[in-house]
Amino acid sequence: MKTRQIFENNKKWIAEKLAIDDKYFEKLSGGQSPELLYIGCSDSRVTAEDLMGVEPGEVFVHRNIANMVPNTDLSAMSVINYAVEHLKVNHIVVCGHYYCGGVKAAMESIDMGILNPWLRNIRDVFRLHKKELNAIKNEEEKYKRLVELNVQEQCISVIKTTEVQYAYRSRQIQVHGWVFDIHTGRLIDLKIDFQKVLQNLVDIYRIE
Ligand code: CO
Repeated sequence: MKTRQIFENNKKWIAEKLAIDDKYFEKLSGGQSPELLYIGCSDSRVTAEDLMGVEPGEVFVHRNIANMVPNTDLSAMSVINYAVEHLKVNHIVVCGHYYCGGVKAAMESIDMGILNPWLRNIRDVFRLHKKELNAIKNEEEKYKRLVELNVQEQCISVIKTTEVQYAYRSRQIQVHGWVFDIHTGRLIDLKIDFQKVLQNLVDIYRIE
């Protein structure tokens, strides 16, 4: 890909948008009020807006390797804080994807240098669910299940944050765990039981 081509694409994109609505960029510059925060993987194949069929302005996005929400990660925590307390989103989605390179790397013993501490967060998910995962004999199925369990654990990490606890009490903010299946293009709702998760966490993580 030539970077110069990107500027040509941009010109075409502007023309397309203005052909539909000549006030498109005027409206866009007026501000944002997204309903949803999307936390996904940086993988180039898993675009946020495209796969959800939404337009610029509709979703606040955070992406990193393997859609992680480590509670000491200033970037992820700042995004959650801003989305919940300032943009007042009503939904937070953690979206993983099958065939995730980050999850794959965490299942192997290769020294990845600076990536080691990041991948360790995924290995911690494996440890938490070791019994279930090791009972799966098919390697691909095990890999896919770890992707799902990682999404579940990152949702729990979101739910533990003070911002989300407060927003749940004041406006019943919802946290969703989804997986994008690259093989079919399908978006799968893992249907995480928010109430059940909260009940199990409340006595340990509740902040007043
Ligand atoms: Co990935």
